[in-house]
Amino acid sequence: MTAQLIDGNALSRQLRTQVAERVSALKAQGLTPGLAVILVGENPASQVYVRNKVKACEDTGMHSVLEKYEASMTESELLARVEALNNDPSIHGILVQLPLPAHMDAQKVIEAISPAKDVDGFHIASAGALMTGMAGFWPCTPYGCMKMLESIGYSLKGKHAVVIGRSNIVGKPMALMLLQQNATVTICHSATPDLKAMTLQADVIVAAVGKRNVLTADMVKPGAVVLDVGMNRDEAGKLCGDVDFDGVRQVASYITPVPGGVGPMTITMLMVNTLESAERALAA
Ligand code: GUN
Repeated sequence: MTAQLIDGNALSRQLRTQVAERVSALKAQGLTPGLAVILVGENPASQVYVRNKVKACEDTGMHSVLEKYEASMTESELLARVEALNNDPSIHGILVQLPLPAHMDAQKVIEAISPAKDVDGFHIASAGALMTGMAGFWPCTPYGCMKMLESIGYSLKGKHAVVIGRSNIVGKPMALMLLQQNATVTICHSATPDLKAMTLQADVIVAAVGKRNVLTADMVKPGAVVLDVGMNRDEAGKLCGDVDFDGVRQVASYITPVPGGVGPMTITMLMVNTLESAERALAA
């Protein structure tokens, strides 16, 4: 069997077209959704990410503000900017790009963002809303993974999902989203003694470790669905995920490529969250 690809670029285009239509409808009612992106320091990967986020806003008709600061900015200066954006009615989403410089407490900065504008879904109020099934914002990467499963009409009810990785940004929220759709969920991590024994039982595998070849063909049950959240470089400097793509695609039924898989979906779901924040502001 050769797996079918779940094309994150194509799905993103489709979803962003829908977002653009809803943005137009809001604009017709006098409200333009706005996203503020804060970048502190010169991290090259972060610079690329924030540029793509601002570009996605332009493409979908949203207003965006990019605030760039020197790495020497103090934490209290950053907190003051966040507070100003919390009170700015033209801004519906606030995103502080991570990582922050080492002299800042990233969690403290995230907690300063109003939960109503936490479009990254990193605030503890957002995490609590996800855990309890209440309205909030879902972190964009696992949310994008759920949309990819939805796009192939996959029903998680009664399925065994194995998540590899337990970060607050991907692994833990991913597990909660899968659970909410009635999957049986196993979270594996660096202290899991026999990862292969777990993944071989899985109908769905989400690899979110940040290390190449975490998942190889011998670890995958024939017909499983494999989502690759990894963003790594191989020896040749080529972008690759956590999954041995060439091997696993011979065993899986569906697989997401890297690049062109989960990556574009993350930014798309940021657009969706920002739009929804604006729609909630209008309804309030
Ligand atoms: N750094 C890497 N990914 C992300 C993300 O999704 N949001 C933010 N704020 N920072 C990141």
